[in-house]
Amino acid sequence: MHMPAQRELRLAKRMTRLGTETAFEVLVKAKALEAQGRDIVHLEIGEPDFDTPKNIIDAAADAMRTGFTHYGPAAGLPQLRETIAQYVSETRKVNVSPDEVVVVPGGKPIIFFSILSLVEQGDEVIYPNPGFPIYESMIQFLHAKAVPIRLREEMDFRLDVDELASLITDRTRLIIINSPQNPTGGVLEKKDLDGIACAIGDRNIMVLTDEIYSRLIFDGEHHSIMSIDGMKERSILLDGFSKTYAMTGWRMGYGVMRPDLAAHIARLMVNSNSCTASFTQVAGVEALRGPQDSVTQMCAEFKKRRDAMVAGLNKIKGFSCRLPKGAFYVFPNVTKTGWPSKRLADALLDDAGVSALSGTAFGSFGEGYLRFSVANSIENIQKALDRVGTWANKNL
Ligand SMILES: Cc1ncc(COP(=O)(O)O)c(C=O)c1O
Repeated sequence: MHMPAQRELRLAKRMTRLGTETAFEVLVKAKALEAQGRDIVHLEIGEPDFDTPKNIIDAAADAMRTGFTHYGPAAGLPQLRETIAQYVSETRKVNVSPDEVVVVPGGKPIIFFSILSLVEQGDEVIYPNPGFPIYESMIQFLHAKAVPIRLREEMDFRLDVDELASLITDRTRLIIINSPQNPTGGVLEKKDLDGIACAIGDRNIMVLTDEIYSRLIFDGEHHSIMSIDGMKERSILLDGFSKTYAMTGWRMGYGVMRPDLAAHIARLMVNSNSCTASFTQVAGVEALRGPQDSVTQMCAEFKKRRDAMVAGLNKIKGFSCRLPKGAFYVFPNVTKTGWPSKRLADALLDDAGVSALSGTAFGSFGEGYLRFSVANSIENIQKALDRVGTWANKNL
């Protein structure tokens, strides 16, 4: 039988501008090595290794049995929007009403939808580098100009407000900030946020404030730019359930923004997802209203692991590591190894069976760093440290 030749895939040009999140690729590579019989310590992926608390799982199961298996409103179930509005009002000390809340499948869609709805081709978007790679990917995909602000180790990876001020132009449409930060664990202080608000002044610039790690703070407390006078109507808060309640696979997050923008983001939801899964949202109400001890316990455990990881890394030849103040990553400086970050990450996986990410997976200013997630047991962290130490003694 005659088989037709495979036709050329005619991909839209915009796809060449779409980036990715390397963590998922490295995870696939590490899993492939495991399938060949290798023992790998996974410190690449950014998700809590804990199970979702039982009360949340029970709430979802009950919801499935009581009819929450249908479409719901695009912006989210009213009871969840109400709960989120109350939660954000209390934690950010602002007045939020339910029509300012849009529930989406994970925190990520808020990044895409904010840029999609606010930024024209050629507009400038300022974003942290090293930073969560989806910001740069989405900015470029949507044909905007990506303007990185470098986060510096000597500032504990907080951003330099004067530098930010120097990057703002008449074309700046959006500034993305992230605290606690992925990948550095840097946390913005109140004075930094005051400085950012001051640098923006009365310009009509929106701020996408990614606070997905807001409950994972080890020293001090979380501050939001939303709480600053005059900033609420220019802020889009991104937060969610993935990291706080170990719910990464559930896919549920939310944005909080002025109601007229919320209506447009809801329209993007109608066009893309219809709605976030209904029973998941019922569980979201339980997550926010139910007992919070699991959050406290997880945070305390991450802190112990952070301390062990940082202390261990600082004893390894060529590595030096600051103490991150939040999230569950450590970001050691590896310039003294003399190895480029990507080659070093590859070698640690291939030779030592430790899966970490190159700092360059988070932008060009990540060169000279690696990211290790501490979302793994103390035993595995110790095993990873032993392996990296042995590797360094042999190869450096
Ligand atoms: C800074 C930051 N923002 C947003 C997200 C997305 O979270 P979600 O899994 O809820 O989409 C992540 C996940 O790694 C993140 O690190």
